[in-house]
Amino acid sequence: MALPKSVTLVEMGARDGLQNEHAVVATHDKIRYIDLLSETGLRWIETTSFVSPKAIPQLADAAEVFAGIRKAPGVRYPVLVPNMKGYERAKSVGADAIAVFTAASEAFTKRNINMTIDESLATFRDVVAAGKRDGMWVRGYVSTAFGSPFGDLVTPQMVVDVSVKLMEMGCDELSIGDTIGVGVPSQVDELVPALARAIPLDRLAFHFHDTRGTALANLFAALQHGVHIFDSSAGGLGGCPYAPGATGNVGTEDVLNMLHGMGIETGVDLAKVRAASRFIRGVLDHDLTSKTFQALEAADARAAGTGVSA
Ligand code: HMG
Ligand code: MG
Repeated sequence: MALPKSVTLVEMGARDGLQNEHAVVATHDKIRYIDLLSETGLRWIETTSFVSPKAIPQLADAAEVFAGIRKAPGVRYPVLVPNMKGYERAKSVGADAIAVFTAASEAFTKRNINMTIDESLATFRDVVAAGKRDGMWVRGYVSTAFGSPFGDLVTPQMVVDVSVKLMEMGCDELSIGDTIGVGVPSQVDELVPALARAIPLDRLAFHFHDTRGTALANLFAALQHGVHIFDSSAGGLGGCPYAPGATGNVGTEDVLNMLHGMGIETGVDLAKVRAASRFIRGVLDHDLTSKTFQALEAADARAAGTGVSA
């Protein structure tokens, strides 16, 4: 199949990224970060999570963040909701795009949201119905699609089964997650056609964490099957506190560098994403993992004669 001519990126830095930081980022810094991301050409910026603040204290200020950001025209700001309580909180601050999240692994679902997969689907049936009634856009996540952090078996058919149930309840789009970054391209080659037999390709996104360095290879494999919606994170931030060992999402700068180099359009300005990453690096206590971000920083440092080498 010919590669897609354009790709839509769904930015994860503010949600998947900041949920996994040891330090709690100040609300005004989160708002500034998201406002910078809004200037990049990204049209989808996942903003925060209306989950239990006991489960994810890093995002306990979800309402303040959502209310405080500048909503750029043409940009959607989805938020995660795990149950009706989260739905009502999100709705009360004007969210019009939500994401529910379950998984293919029972063990992970239990740790992450304290539900079995069936219980999560029953919970989300109500949430999705409420969202559709209120005119919201709804995404469904299927995590651990390439492997579980707890060693329980995940097969492509299990991923397809959960995905079909989420679509049947009314999700507009699914994001299929390699939560712990263990997937390899041959798994993508098996999973995408299996999903595409049941779900239109233009309603499928892929969400690759880069824990073992295979995220870009997996993304390219999915691209070859016609997938054209991908999740990525500015600077490569990310990880799930309930998935031991999981590190960041594939870096937005890395995806842009590769896609633009291949002549695939995204509508996103790499330099502006880098500016947002620089800002958030300034408030975090560590460097960023995106290789392209690092390479561009090193090139600038060389040009400025500071002696930092790539
Ligand atoms: P629980 O303890 O079973 O729930 O947690 P509960 O209903 O018994 O409630 C416990 C307490 O939380 C109660 O408060 C509730 O009111 C409160 P208390 O009476 O003890 O004071 N509560 C809430 N508060 C605010 N907002 C809410 C909410 N719900 C309950 N929405 C629950 C179950 C689902 C709530 C919890 O486990 C939870 O919030 N989990 C979220 C975990 C999470 O956010 N994980 C990261 C996102 S998933 C991810 O990163 C993967 C992804 O990136 C894709 C990939 O990589 O594969 C998406
Ligand atoms: Mg994730």
